Amino acid sequence: MGMLEIRNVDKVYRSRGKPPVHAVRALDMEVKKGEIVALLGSSGCGKTSTLRMVAGFESVTSGAIALSQRRIDELPPAKRNVAMAFEGYSLYPPLTIRENIAFALKAQQLAHREVSHRVDAIARMVEIEDILDSYPRSISGGQQQRVSLARALVRDADLYLLDEPMGQLEPQLRAVLRGRIKGLLAERGMTAIFVTHDQTEASALADRIAVMEDGVLQQFANERELKNRPANLFVASFIGEPPMNLLETQVAHADGGFCLSVGADMAFRIAGDTLDQAARKLLEQAQSVRVGIRPQRIAVGTGDVRVRVVSNQWLGDQSHVAGECAGHLLIAVTVNRIAARPGDIVPFALDPRHLHVFGADGTCIRHAEGG
Ligand SMILES: Nc1ncnc2c1ncn2[C@@H]1O[C@H](COP(=O)(O)OP(=O)(O)OP(=O)(O)O)[C@@H](O)[C@H]1O
Ligand SMILES: [Mg+2]
Repeated sequence: MGMLEIRNVDKVYRSRGKPPVHAVRALDMEVKKGEIVALLGSSGCGKTSTLRMVAGFESVTSGAIALSQRRIDELPPAKRNVAMAFEGYSLYPPLTIRENIAFALKAQQLAHREVSHRVDAIARMVEIEDILDSYPRSISGGQQQRVSLARALVRDADLYLLDEPMGQLEPQLRAVLRGRIKGLLAERGMTAIFVTHDQTEASALADRIAVMEDGVLQQFANERELKNRPANLFVASFIGEPPMNLLETQVAHADGGFCLSVGADMAFRIAGDTLDQAARKLLEQAQSVRVGIRPQRIAVGTGDVRVRVVSNQWLGDQSHVAGECAGHLLIAVTVNRIAARPGDIVPFALDPRHLHVFGADGTCIRHAEGG
């Protein structure tokens, strides 16, 4: 059983004179003790709403939430033993930074010295020791964000919820803090869910990543699984840089397998025995299917797909070559420097083994070998 269990939770916001907003739909997820989870998804997909329901600042419209086997969704926030760093920081203006952070320790009734000691240690970790005597209005947004983070992490709680904890910070500081936060969480065996827009951050910090879109949890898995076995079109195109190439193909039967073609210029043969029964059935009935191939899986300079180069960028350690074929733009990434210019015709190799195949509802019905 999980440390945190979210069971079939829905959130509908209703305000007078406005249509209701269904922010979270039938959310089911379990977080294990000591696990670090990232909530990843585009703006408005329901990340903050999810955290706020777990922390108790929003009610659940339906469903249940349990923490350490204890039902918490009816409890007031203070009774849940959940620490949260808010997206909007929510610092207390009349208190100094030191008092803001120490305030979170009030309920724990610690000795004065222990409080100072903890505040100093966490302030050092997020590099705000020099502003402990300032007031929130006189410090920068990035500093306020770190105060908010410190205030959450300084507490002893069963669960830590961090809503975009480093969104305001410059990349260098972010990378440093990321490492320190991960160290702290791991050392103390803390269980945490953090929201981010940044895939690199999600991969670097989290054990598992929950990808949300439109209030619906699309997939909850580790980074490798999300990349190699995306559950559907959304995850396939959302995870990975640059995004997966997607093509609409016509399906024809061929020698016990299938031939998926894009006009007369691209054709992929898929052997029947590389498909499970459900996928085979789907392809037998479908006239067209979407397929996807990662840019890193397209070989440049060999192969029978001839593309007209649109752009070619060397990024210092890899080339991104974009080319057009049969009205489709394909992006290939290689570690070699490619000497092509816009307008040149260059061969691309798209190996059918590297194709992900998607059903009409977007579900992935066949994953590429090795992702
Ligand atoms: N208090 C509220 N009243 C009405 N609608 C709300 C309220 N809070 C959020 N929403 C709506 O619910 C949906 C989900 O919002 P939420 O804040 O959970 O998204 P998010 O994933 O955190 O987005 P972001 O990345 O921009 O922070 C959005 O459509 C938002 O407009
Ligand atoms: Mg949010």
